[in-house]
Amino acid sequence: MGSPPEIPRHIAVIMDGNGRWAKERGLPRRDGHRAGAESVREVMEACIELGVEYLTLYAFSSENWSRPASEVEALMGLLDRFLDEKAKDLDKQNVRLLAIGQIDRLPQKTRDKLARITAHTANHTALTLVLALSYGAREEIVAAARSLAEEAIAGKISPAEIDNERFASHLQTAGIPDPDLLVRTSGEMRVSNFLLWQISYAEIVIVKKFWPDFRQTDLFETVEEYKRRHRRFGAL
Ligand code: FPP
Repeated sequence: MGSPPEIPRHIAVIMDGNGRWAKERGLPRRDGHRAGAESVREVMEACIELGVEYLTLYAFSSENWSRPASEVEALMGLLDRFLDEKAKDLDKQNVRLLAIGQIDRLPQKTRDKLARITAHTANHTALTLVLALSYGAREEIVAAARSLAEEAIAGKISPAEIDNERFASHLQTAGIPDPDLLVRTSGEMRVSNFLLWQISYAEIVIVKKFWPDFRQTDLFETVEEYKRRHRRFGAL
């Protein structure tokens, strides 16, 4: 199928600001996350509409485990609900679901749901939704280095054969094109241990709004910004 030329093939999003959105309204943080789950639905639809092929969402970082237990529970609950509610829609919308991160740290119930939906949607082609869960880029890179070292020790490869391509094939994103566009909400200018290898050449767009206020039109605007940068680049 393929995306139209100027549309980013892969958009990665750091969904930041749920807590501050809730605080501004005098609400508990979990309400911010709940509202953020709505933005997830919006952005997915916008990506399908635009013909974006991959959408990767930073839904839970490896550092998020150190948040209060009640907040971790609320986030896991939202993820479960999202998976329950979305299972049918993903199928109907022809969306393939993938998960990256230290999935074995998630509750068994959530892992089972993820396994079922990823298997069921494996051949869908409209959009690939990649959920980064218990994800940390350094951990991912270290795991790749470790598995390459093991292959070298086992005599399967020689260290001289380790190049960018082989290294990338040992990351959890193997087979997924690198993000063309990285979006972060809430105005923060950080990459927070997200896809460090994969964003080497991504355009970065920082949006001031908190994630729960991010709507389809905001996604369209970030893509417009991406296109403007590409046009400038093409003119050089
Ligand atoms: C950052 O806001 C956001 C998160 C830690 C979690 C993102 C999760 C969701 C949007 C909902 C669930 C996801 C899915 C896929 C259903 P923050 O809490 O760090 O905000 P703050 O910086 O204002 O405190």
